[in-house]
Amino acid sequence: MKVLIVGGGGREHAIAYCVAKSSKVEKMYCAPGNAGIAELAECVPIGAMEFDKLVTFAKEKEIDLAIVGMDDPLVGGLIDEFEKAGIRAFGPRKNAAILEGSKAFSKDLMKKYDIPTAAYENFDNADEALAYLETAKFPIVLKADGLALGKGVLICNTLEEAKAGVKEIMLDKKFGASGNTMVVEEFMTGREVSVLSFVDGKTIKTMTSAQDHKRAKDGDQGLNTGGMGTFSPSPFYTKEVDEFCRKYVYQKTVDAMAAEGREFKGIIFFGLMLTEDGPKVLEYNARFGDPEAQVVLPRMKNDLIDVIEACIDGTLDQVDLQFEDNAAVCVVLASDGYPVAYEKGLPITGLDEFKKHEGYYCFHAGTKFDGDQIVTNGGRVLGVTAKGATLKEARANAYKATEWVQFDNKYMRHDIGKAIDEA
Ligand code: AMP
Ligand code: GLY
Repeated sequence: MKVLIVGGGGREHAIAYCVAKSSKVEKMYCAPGNAGIAELAECVPIGAMEFDKLVTFAKEKEIDLAIVGMDDPLVGGLIDEFEKAGIRAFGPRKNAAILEGSKAFSKDLMKKYDIPTAAYENFDNADEALAYLETAKFPIVLKADGLALGKGVLICNTLEEAKAGVKEIMLDKKFGASGNTMVVEEFMTGREVSVLSFVDGKTIKTMTSAQDHKRAKDGDQGLNTGGMGTFSPSPFYTKEVDEFCRKYVYQKTVDAMAAEGREFKGIIFFGLMLTEDGPKVLEYNARFGDPEAQVVLPRMKNDLIDVIEACIDGTLDQVDLQFEDNAAVCVVLASDGYPVAYEKGLPITGLDEFKKHEGYYCFHAGTKFDGDQIVTNGGRVLGVTAKGATLKEARANAYKATEWVQFDNKYMRHDIGKAIDEA
């Protein structure tokens, strides 16, 4: 089988790692890929939003399966384009990817189908939003409706902050058209857990849980980022939480999408908050998390291609999804200055060390070749990942492995998985 992976970050490297292990795959391409993915796949310089070029390439190379891991092309309808051209593709169609693409849509869906989430109101008019905020309880959360690179969420402690937030999102259009509509949401407190799942339109199978660290600095300080590190499983995702979500969240979401005529096939990522009143949905994503995929996929026992094919064919009920009974931790090595301004093109050394150790992975996020030398090419550069028998062991292993790699301006958080100690 010939496989094309669309994307070029750490998540796609983790997907490529699993695809490469499959006995069914004879050739793998990645568009655009990165220097790490290039060890496993032939990288082609086509961007994830260049739909025409991707479809033409897939037809030319007679691709048997295209896997789309990123939110933008999914929400933009890349799966539909592949399918129109007769190419089998994994991910939700445009009418289902709206689950991530519009927060107003997902909030209305949860309300209609009684899926637990924070109380909210949607606004497409700034004056009405401002009038509502005058009488609201603080803190309060403002969310740009559309995709905003994970930055369209503002937690406002005062009316003044909220007014400035409305201006930013709806009037100044800091997040572009994503801010044409805005969700105003009740502020919740509790631990956050990510649960990724495979979905075939009817059946849902959840993967092992994970937890992300979104802020740039230790102690959850600094700006929001794409994610600075993850651990899996989350010790806070207990049997009770799982049972609750099975009953009130997971299958209900899949059934709700089907009932709306928006059959969902692909990955649903549930961002949950474990509040005092029970688990509530913070957000849905329509893809693997990055860097959640980096700690979840290496622990999966199944052949990823088998599971993906079952999702496309609607036979997921026949899959026995299994994960190793261990743990994994991913520490992101970033370029100092991320997520604002940072240098690129800095040589990276020490990468070969990972080949000498079983259970250690260096997933590339922002890297490229400069001649024979691998150099930095983004804010998040590498996702250093290690397994261990326990979370503590995995964490110690991952931090040990961060020392194997060197590049100028290397930056990381030192408290990834600190929450493990409180479990
Ligand atoms: P989202 O993109 O909706 O997951 O929001 C990004 C982050 O903002 C989440 O991971 C939470 O840390 C925070 N957040 C979002 N919604 C709320 C809420 N209603 N209450 C408290 N924190 C929130
Ligand atoms: N790590 C969070 C996300 O992928 O959205």
